[in-house]
Amino acid sequence: MKRRNFINSAALAGLGLTLGSSTPASKQNNKKSLRATFSQNDNRFSIYTHANIKPTRIFHITDTHLSLDDERGSKYQEYSRRMAGAYKSNTHFQTQKRVTTQESFEMTLKLAKEQDVDFLALTGDIFSFPSEAAVEWALQQLNETQIPFAYVAGNHDWHYEGMSGSSTQLRETWATKHLKPMYQGKHPLYASYEFNGLRFVCIDNSTYEILPEQLDYFQELAESDTPIVLLMHIPLFMPGRSMGYGCANPNWGEKGDKNFEIERREKWRKGGHTKVTNDFYKAVFKAPNLLGILAGHTHRPAIDVKKGIAQMVSSHNATAYYSDINFNTFP
Ligand SMILES: [Fe+2]
Repeated sequence: MKRRNFINSAALAGLGLTLGSSTPASKQNNKKSLRATFSQNDNRFSIYTHANIKPTRIFHITDTHLSLDDERGSKYQEYSRRMAGAYKSNTHFQTQKRVTTQESFEMTLKLAKEQDVDFLALTGDIFSFPSEAAVEWALQQLNETQIPFAYVAGNHDWHYEGMSGSSTQLRETWATKHLKPMYQGKHPLYASYEFNGLRFVCIDNSTYEILPEQLDYFQELAESDTPIVLLMHIPLFMPGRSMGYGCANPNWGEKGDKNFEIERREKWRKGGHTKVTNDFYKAVFKAPNLLGILAGHTHRPAIDVKKGIAQMVSSHNATAYYSDINFNTFP
């Protein structure tokens, strides 16, 4: 176990993080915060809410980077080659043994099954490119667990590097074509999964940006009395964090884009984020019923708390990492 890969729970405890106490009621609807407490040890989290929910345990899985492929992918090899070679062999986050991404995914799901986990939250880059073979394989593994799951895409899930088109267009194309079964009939860009009195809300921000319909969707759910957990791939901006925290990051944009050539994609937007993306950021940190944000993308575990709302970024499941999160009603 690489100790530096683990979040220092003592440090968090020292901060006395009690979400409810520091959370003002929403100015928009004046509702009382549903957040009670938040605790963390290594990759385990415990979240209490004032809402009446059934005790629920979830595994948060992100960035497995599966790259298995078959003859159906041969015509896309020009676009998948670099990522097909990435994450071939990884160090298991606990045993330090070498593991493939498929082994990591299988191990995590096996553990979820053995531990009677209620729900799986998948926050993107489960695939390194939109391989039909990988999607089929992952779905089979997920369905075998019989555990309900929610999936939102990451920037690699739909990306064939060097293919022409904007990021928004390519996401639409491949979410519709190859990733479609992962959405279980729901909208790829915004969807909710209601479970045990909780609402898991998926917002696809894998282009780093938020669309007007996604903002509208979130704002409506933020008005409800059902506690929500927000699932996104790219973490929301936090001062002091890297550009990986790129959604609503004031430094995001054409000038700050270092990887567009390697990833063979369009450059980030000239002039930075849209007003809609910045408005979404404000709406998230005003939502009285938001219990927490689950994200990935950076491949490093980290927690930030803003206005009493915890953003939990999980490390990459390519190393079999997962976050184990329990939700309960505050006694
Ligand atoms: Fe990733």
